[in-house]
Amino acid sequence: MSIIAGNWKMVRSPAATRTFFGQLRVDDVPSRHELLIFPPAISLVAAAEARPARVRVGVQNIHWEEEGAFTGEVSAEMAREAGAEFALIGHSERRHLFGETDEQVALKTGAAIRHGLVPVVCVGETLEERRAGMVDDVILRQLDAVLPELALSARVLIAYEPVWAIGTGETATPSDASSAHRTVRRRLAEALGGEAAARVGVLYGGSVKPANARELLAAPDVDGVLVGGASVDPASYVAIALAAP
Ligand code: 13P
Repeated sequence: MSIIAGNWKMVRSPAATRTFFGQLRVDDVPSRHELLIFPPAISLVAAAEARPARVRVGVQNIHWEEEGAFTGEVSAEMAREAGAEFALIGHSERRHLFGETDEQVALKTGAAIRHGLVPVVCVGETLEERRAGMVDDVILRQLDAVLPELALSARVLIAYEPVWAIGTGETATPSDASSAHRTVRRRLAEALGGEAAARVGVLYGGSVKPANARELLAAPDVDGVLVGGASVDPASYVAIALAAP
């Protein structure tokens, strides 16, 4: 079983979201695979209404407060009412373009769990950090920040997305991905216990395309992929799902 998640980022209006789902042909994708789409928040309702039953939707970002004077933000409860069942938390674009901190990522993870959203916590190193041999240090620092929250969740996903592989056409090798995923798993096992850790899905993200999806999805400890650019086109999203072993 693989998880094929599409993060549309700031692409696809409500009307374009309906068109995407109108063109999406998932009947040939084996039912063991789980299909998720993360549209922009403003397109969540359109996605929830237009999606086929087996594709579930999530929000790309939430605020940790319930409501209030936070212009431009969306709460977990609002996202859930709009149809989200999952929430991306701490995507590298949130961390690096918008200055999101480990503390904020932890607060958002807690808010998602309180409101019944499955958190998809994103971790990953920059190129400088990789060159400095700090891959595991960065992943573990980002993961440790959310561990106290994760213990409370019925379900959790972690996405390993090396920053240098996002939107660049550079992809981690399957063995790079496996090695980072093993680091995540080891820490989860220490913190949550082996059984709970085994239930956490660990996704790889960063320039996943139809052409490289199979080898990444077949790599040990890779439970799925988080796809950016190649997920906004229905044919290429389905091609990735069909490549899943
Ligand atoms: P790309 O697949 O466009 O590299 O984006 C990856 C990503 O950030 C998914 O969250």
